Amino acid sequence: MNEISARATADAYDAVAALYAGLPRDDLERTPLDRAVLGAFAEAVGRGGLVCEAGCGPGPVVAHLRGLGLDAFGVDLAAGMIGIARAAYPGVRFDVGSMDALDVADGALRGVVSWYSVIHASPADMPGYLAEFRRVLADGGHLLLAFFEAEDGPLTTFDHRVATAYRWPVDDLAETARNAGFAEVGRMLREPGDGERFRRGHLLMRAVRPEPAGVAGRGVSGR
Ligand SMILES: C[S@@+](CC[C@H](N)C(=O)[O-])C[C@H]1O[C@@H](n2cnc3c(N)ncnc32)[C@H](O)[C@@H]1O
Repeated sequence: MNEISARATADAYDAVAALYAGLPRDDLERTPLDRAVLGAFAEAVGRGGLVCEAGCGPGPVVAHLRGLGLDAFGVDLAAGMIGIARAAYPGVRFDVGSMDALDVADGALRGVVSWYSVIHASPADMPGYLAEFRRVLADGGHLLLAFFEAEDGPLTTFDHRVATAYRWPVDDLAETARNAGFAEVGRMLREPGDGERFRRGHLLMRAVRPEPAGVAGRGVSGR
């Protein structure tokens, strides 16, 4: 894991934290498909489930998840972002920390959300982030990834306003997550809306145990 680039990303977010605080927080109100994905995630996790939003920024997604009945908390490496989140949502847990080293016991969570936060992870670092999400999730727990999709192109960087970011082909990110111990539940792609540049990708994954050797492919239901 490249701690220097994670720190550089967090520093870049800290530098704009005050600006963030002044931005309208109505993104989810304008995007019914995004709300639908978060709703599906909440149902998959189950009411009251303990969920971490890794890379929570100023906290609106944590608040939304709590509104859906989840016991959600946020973690972000940018202390300025966490300060804004705590002020905006008093009484809600927000921790300063890196999402590649979460202060959470193995298997303690029912869900993890990365809502446009692993977009800053390089392809070399992505498996490490996903391995950490798998470590903190109970078997059967759910991971939701929101990201900028590559729209049939190769994995590529783009000029994100704050820090270097990547656009992933959805199949590539799904495969990387599968290799980290997840099975795909479903995916949602939506075209960019007003003021947005790129197609948005959402992957809902379930944490699975590695199958013992020799049992792969034994389907029984016939459906
Ligand atoms: C595009 S913002 C998204 C914020 C939030 N999820 C939202 O949608 O409102 C990305 C966030 O990820 C955080 N971040 C990036 N790398 C991180 C890391 N290694 N650990 C924790 N947070 C990280 C940044 O500090 C930033 O707040």
